Amino acid sequence: MRNRHLCHRNFGPIALNVLALSGSLRQASINTAFCLAAARLAPAPMQITLFAGLGALPLFNPDLETDPPWSVQDLRQAVARADALLIASPEYAHGISGVMKNALDWLVSDEGVVHKPVALVNTSPRAHHACDALREILKTMSTTLVTDASTALALPRGCVTQEAMLSAPEVRGAIADLLTALATHLTGGGGHEGVAQFSLA
Ligand SMILES: Cc1cc2nc3c(=O)[nH]c(=O)nc-3n(C[C@H](O)[C@H](O)[C@H](O)COP(=O)(O)O)c2cc1C
Repeated sequence: MRNRHLCHRNFGPIALNVLALSGSLRQASINTAFCLAAARLAPAPMQITLFAGLGALPLFNPDLETDPPWSVQDLRQAVARADALLIASPEYAHGISGVMKNALDWLVSDEGVVHKPVALVNTSPRAHHACDALREILKTMSTTLVTDASTALALPRGCVTQEAMLSAPEVRGAIADLLTALATHLTGGGGHEGVAQFSLA
């Protein structure tokens, strides 16, 4: 995967729409900064859009499933439109953030998420509980985890903003590499868990 030459590949004319989900609502979130840096580094024709509405979702309530609130419909439509998800989320007390768990709970019974390719990125490699739990949840939800694009991103001290990530060559390269791996998967190659159901045809 760590082939820097691939970073500049163009993956053809077919748009690859990737929806980024950050599990943090913090203004200065490292996970959100990563998603935004990834959006800037997306290899053509990949386009990465950060979903900004996770904080507007109500707490998950199965009673609302039949007539979900607009914020939930918004999320589900964005997921359905996306060719893949890019997920980055913090660890809180050895668990996944409530923000991310709530969003995923709203997606559990949603057809649009089934077999959806997912790149899961851990921006805090010293933390593993949340990422392990997320992997299990995403597997249970029948998404397709793209292993080549799912990585721990070791950020140097102080590298906590979008600009800092884009300015640090090793971070920039690592992000470009994982996006290249995701694009490679989406266009028919690369490693994944389970059987890839995605087709560009
Ligand atoms: C309430 C709370 C609990 C945390 N628990 C853990 C933890 O168990 N393990 C860990 O590695 N970091 C923990 N952290 C640190 C956060 O994961 C870290 O600050 C992360 O960068 C937050 O993500 P964000 O920058 O996207 O908001 C905790 C932070 C907070 C605020």
